[in-house]
Amino acid sequence: MANNNEIERRRTFAIIAHPDAGKTSLTEKLLLFGGQIQVAGAVKSNKIKKTATSDWMDIEKQRGISVTTSVMEFDYKEYKINILDTPGHQDFAEDTYRTLTAVDSVIIVVDGAKGVETQTRKLMEVCRMRNTPVIIFINKMDREAKDPFDLLDELEEELAIHVRPLTWPIESGVRFKGVYNIYENNLNLFQPSKQVVTEKVEVDINTEELDKQIGVQLADKLRGELELIDGVYPEFDKKEYLKGELAPVFFGSALNNFGVQELLDCFVEIAPSPRPVQAEEREVEPEESKFTGFVFKITANIDPNHRSCIAFCKICSGKFTRNAPYLHVRHGKTMRFSSPTQFMAQRKTTVDEAWAGDIIGLPDNGSFKIGDTLTEGEMLHFRGLPSFSPEMFKYIENADPMKQKQLAKGIDQLMDEGVAQLFVNQFNGRKIIGTVGQLQFEVIQYRLENEYSAKCRWEPLSLYKACWIESDNLEELEAFKKRKYQYMAKDREGRDVFLADSGYVLQMAQMDFKNIKFHFTSEF
Ligand code: G4P
Repeated sequence: MANNNEIERRRTFAIIAHPDAGKTSLTEKLLLFGGQIQVAGAVKSNKIKKTATSDWMDIEKQRGISVTTSVMEFDYKEYKINILDTPGHQDFAEDTYRTLTAVDSVIIVVDGAKGVETQTRKLMEVCRMRNTPVIIFINKMDREAKDPFDLLDELEEELAIHVRPLTWPIESGVRFKGVYNIYENNLNLFQPSKQVVTEKVEVDINTEELDKQIGVQLADKLRGELELIDGVYPEFDKKEYLKGELAPVFFGSALNNFGVQELLDCFVEIAPSPRPVQAEEREVEPEESKFTGFVFKITANIDPNHRSCIAFCKICSGKFTRNAPYLHVRHGKTMRFSSPTQFMAQRKTTVDEAWAGDIIGLPDNGSFKIGDTLTEGEMLHFRGLPSFSPEMFKYIENADPMKQKQLAKGIDQLMDEGVAQLFVNQFNGRKIIGTVGQLQFEVIQYRLENEYSAKCRWEPLSLYKACWIESDNLEELEAFKKRKYQYMAKDREGRDVFLADSGYVLQMAQMDFKNIKFHFTSEF
């Protein structure tokens, strides 16, 4: 058996949010608690953003968005915490979805004034697909926020999950007095622009001490609200949380580092240590002695001086050792890694060993693609890296006839990295790139030019959705493909994809071919 202590103390998670809800601010504050950065108190996020999150790629610097997913690790109390950062821009949502396959739980940040936003909803759907345990942090309580009960209702309705507040805000905006920690029965009074450690007051809510601290009126209101909470919401049940059915809710202000420690303290206690991972062949337990892992992200050319990639590998079981021989299952060949890296906020270091739950960076020059599995010899294939039907489509054409080869290679490698999805139209043989947003096309073009010296040109293509089709009724499947031959494509795995040019066409197809299943994600 592997060292269970090492595995049990690990907490690997991602913070997800609609852009601007406060993910970066919260990440920074968590890093502060982990001693990874030393800037105390409220920080203008932009400055720290540069150190707290990755900004390796040129394009990301230019645009000020975080394109790549980076990993930050630190120790807190007896725990080892791995935060997987996700791109802030929604055009890179696919990256975020993939990152979610490598985490054991998530913290969702919600803006207290805006409530649930589109991206929150989508990300929650991905969490639900995998029953990922979720904690919710309602941020920006120092600004005028929605009524907390309304917020809870909204979370339950829109995210389809039960909620249970574990802290409770006392007003918001200019009247914001602080949060009451229901979990520990103490009061945390808000002092804007305060430093890292907050002073908490132990109060029995039924005594006059509470009236003294926040005034009679607010104290009475708080007592009433707490009573209501106990009446309406069942007690917090950790088992339900771990099954992904119940989300504990915290209130605070990430910018002011307020309510963050409550969140972190509860998080390390309740969040799961590495969970078993399903491979095609069997379920892999983290405590198994043999190392297994899969690549969930590839970041290319992060250092402009060295044209190299890093493949991010999530360790699913056992212990990874530097220089040990591991099987690259897809290639069937043995590889050794002499300089695997782990990531701190501002630096990366070579590691000699790492445990289930950890993320390691493996220097790579093209041998990995997303989903690749490494083992000590077992033929295992980890699954569960869904592709979603893209939302935008364009034909990609060669703009420099002398660079045909470079273009093909570039497209191939970028697709291996999961930058976008490639479909080949079976009718005219043209290559179609599908993305979530316009920015991805720009990144592809930029990278093809800068990394592969290839030039591409985009041609418009108006499609509604690409759906993967399958059927037990082969006759009907063939009939469908014949009827729709102009709209049939293959994805990179050679699977049949139907390119529907409108919602109406798709609906008609679904009605006419009842034995065909139309899938909107590649995981079915
Ligand atoms: P994101 O990563 O989810 O996109 O959000 P980020 O932390 O960058 O926060 C988005 C904006 O919201 C930032 O303001 C940030 O300062 C602000 N913010 C985050 N948490 C709080 C909070 O608890 N209270 C208040 N009042 N504001 C908060 P910005 O003006 O876009 O950037 P900056 O100029 O502050 O860097």
